[in-house]
Amino acid sequence: MFVVGVDETYPPVSNELRERVLEEFQRRFDGKPSFLVRAPGRVNLIGDHTDYNDGFVLPMAIDREIWLAVRPRGDRRVAVHSIDFDEDATFALDESAPRRANGGWVEYLRGVAWALEEEGRPTAGWEGIIAGDVPVGAGLSSSAALELVTARAFAAVTGIIWQPVGMARVAQRAENEWVGVNCGIMDQLVSAAGAAGHALLIDCRTLETRSVAIPASAAVVVLDTGTRRGLVDSAYNERRAQCEQAARVFGVPALRDVDLPTFDRRQHELDAVTRARARHVVTEDARTVEAAARLENGDVAGFGALMDESHISLRDDFEVSRPELDTMVELAQDHGACYGSRMTGAGFGGCAVALVARDDAEDFVRSVSRAYETAQGLRPTVYVCEASAGASVESVD
Ligand code: GLA
Repeated sequence: MFVVGVDETYPPVSNELRERVLEEFQRRFDGKPSFLVRAPGRVNLIGDHTDYNDGFVLPMAIDREIWLAVRPRGDRRVAVHSIDFDEDATFALDESAPRRANGGWVEYLRGVAWALEEEGRPTAGWEGIIAGDVPVGAGLSSSAALELVTARAFAAVTGIIWQPVGMARVAQRAENEWVGVNCGIMDQLVSAAGAAGHALLIDCRTLETRSVAIPASAAVVVLDTGTRRGLVDSAYNERRAQCEQAARVFGVPALRDVDLPTFDRRQHELDAVTRARARHVVTEDARTVEAAARLENGDVAGFGALMDESHISLRDDFEVSRPELDTMVELAQDHGACYGSRMTGAGFGGCAVALVARDDAEDFVRSVSRAYETAQGLRPTVYVCEASAGASVESVD
C-alpha cells in the first residue's frame, strides 16, 4: 500500500501494529499474550443505505485494521490499554442493562461483552493491548473493527468456535443497543467474514454472502475528503424512518421487496421526498446485484459505470452527499484511469471510493490528491487499499 498526503491522523500501516501490540503487552503485563487478534475496517464498493432495508451491499474488508494482544485472566474482568488513546480501561463482565454509552472507545468493548451475555454466549476475563490504523470517523468502520476484534478476543479466550455471521449480529447488537447507534449489519458482517482479494456480496435479509474477486487489473482507491460527518445520527435515523414509511405505503416488510416495475407503477402514492428516498434504495439494490455479476465477469468498466450511477442516486435522491464528496468523485471520474467513483458509507463527509486501472493507480492517487487540494483548499488522504480477510486470531507460543 502506498499513501499520498499522509498526515498525523494516519498512523503506520497494519504490519507494524502486530509488533506494537505484542511489544507493548510484554512491557506492561510481564510475559507474552496468548493470542494476537485482528479485525479490519471496510470500504463499501456499492450498495449504500440498503442494508437496513433488507437489501444488498458489496463491501470489502481493507488493510486498515485494529489489533489486540490478549491473555486470559482468572477473574471476570477485562483490563485493556489503548496505544492510540494512551488510556487504560477496566470493566467487569456481567454488567446489567445497557445504557446510552458515553461514546468512548471502551464502550464498544463493554457493549460486545454485554451482547455476548445477552445472546447466551460464554465470556471470560482477559487483559490486552489494543491499537489500530482505521481512521476514526472517516466512514471506514473503525467501530465495527473494534467490535469484531473484541468479539474475536472473547471467542479466543473462551475457546468457542468462531461463527462470523453470529458474531456480526452480536457486534451489531452492541452498537445498536449499548452504544446507541442504529446501524445495519454491513460493517460488522464484512469485518467478520471478509475474504482477502475479494469483495463480499451480502444479502442483508438472509445474511448469505458471496465472495466476489477483485480483478487483478483493478485497484480500489479510498479518497478521504478530510471532512467529517456532523449530525450523521439524526440524518441517518431520518432516512431510515423515511424508508420504513415508504415500505408501509407499498405494504411490504422492507423496500427490498419492491422491484423497479412496482416502484414505477406505484411511486405516485408517495410524497416527493419519500419517493426519492425509496427510488434510491430500489435502484441501488438492483445496481448492487448487477455490479457483483459484472465484477465476476471481469467487466470492470461496467462495474464502474454503476458506481457513477450510485453516486448520483445518493447525491440527488437520498441526499447524503456533500460538496466536498461531490468534488472528489468528479475529480476521480475525470482521471483517465478511473472506471468509476462514488461516495461510500453513511455519507455527510468522510470518504469516496474509486475503481481504477492498477497500472495507473499511482498517477491517479497523485493527480486526484493535487486537484482536490487545489479545488477545496483541504488536504485529502488518498490511498490504494487491498481487500483483506475478516477478523482472525493467531496463538502466541
Ligand atoms: C453506516 C452503517 C451501515 C450502513 C451504511 C450506509 O456505515 O453503519 O450499516 O447503513 O452506513 O450504507
